[in-house]
Amino acid sequence: DKGDYDYFMLKEIHEQPKTIEETFRGRLQNNYSEIVLGGLLNVFPKLEAARRIVIIGCGTSWHAGLIAEYLFEEYAQVSVEVEYASEFRYRKPVLSSQDVVILISQSGETADTLAALELAKSKGATAIGICNVVGSSLARETEAGVYTHAGVEIGVASTKAFTAQVTVLTMIALKLAKRKGTISGEDYKMLVKELAEVPEKGRAILADGEKIKNIAEKYQKAVNALYLGRGYLFPVALEGALKLKEISYIHAEGYAAGEMKHGPIALVDNNLPVVVVAPQDDYYEKVVSNIQEVKARKGNVIAIVTEGDKGVKELVNDSIEIPKSHPAVAPLLAVIPLQLMAYHIALLKGCNVDQPRNLAKSVTVE
Ligand code: F6R
Repeated sequence: DKGDYDYFMLKEIHEQPKTIEETFRGRLQNNYSEIVLGGLLNVFPKLEAARRIVIIGCGTSWHAGLIAEYLFEEYAQVSVEVEYASEFRYRKPVLSSQDVVILISQSGETADTLAALELAKSKGATAIGICNVVGSSLARETEAGVYTHAGVEIGVASTKAFTAQVTVLTMIALKLAKRKGTISGEDYKMLVKELAEVPEKGRAILADGEKIKNIAEKYQKAVNALYLGRGYLFPVALEGALKLKEISYIHAEGYAAGEMKHGPIALVDNNLPVVVVAPQDDYYEKVVSNIQEVKARKGNVIAIVTEGDKGVKELVNDSIEIPKSHPAVAPLLAVIPLQLMAYHIALLKGCNVDQPRNLAKSVTVE
């Protein structure tokens, strides 16, 4: 049931503040100061001792894994690799019982991800599943896991399942850091609080979502688009580009902003929209200079900025504000305007946003 919405995708984008709360429910305890993940109790000792964590997924789930790489390294001080399931399953990966593998899948039925799980298990690694569909193959065949509780996702382009995955991964990273003693008590509390504040901030972005329609109108005729971000927001740039290409059929590429000068800058001209995720974080100055490089070549910049930002705003063609947050939780907020922009552009182009051509919700064949 689409309720008040014309399309499932729009409904699911708007559900996110609520689904993120569902993902917390029962897991952020003691007045949102402690994380409890019952499904991982028996594997936390293995996570603590892990020589390495390998995160595996496809598409949007792989992007969630990339965000987790930053979180696990920064807070739990563990080495992480993020792999495409379709590549991993056919490589000769070096894995042992000292490794923990985390498999991410909304459906829990993606053939490549399930094959990667079998390979990891055959090498003796501990396998943890993060999935949305209760009772799915991934949930059944992993040793331990966490459900995302985002509710049924019908739009083929994943939205609320992604933010739920990132929420779960953030909780795992922080809990692991706490258990390992690699995070101070103060930082732990502060980050749990930041996470708990995401739904409210998400609501503020969605309440202002109409403005994105006007931006979509300006860029609906684009043939190509470039998405840039750094740090925690590099995977968000990849996800923004994937959303646009999946549902509007505009060719879009996501890039780490620092890589722009190593190739994609050649694409910049006055026809190219460049979406830059540029909130006020440690990378702000660097991202500002990336924006200047694009503007000097007459590119059109659409920036995602922190509420009240002036520096970026005066450089760019269009900007969308998001509330200030800690960088570690910023992906959960910054992705929302990118989902909405893809949605509005696809709608203006007359595309079927819920069922894009050539795509299936669950890829159960190779
Ligand atoms: C993107 C999208 C796909 C899926 C991918 C993995 O919007 O929907 O890229 O993310 O097919 O699917 P799951 O998570 O079910 O394994």
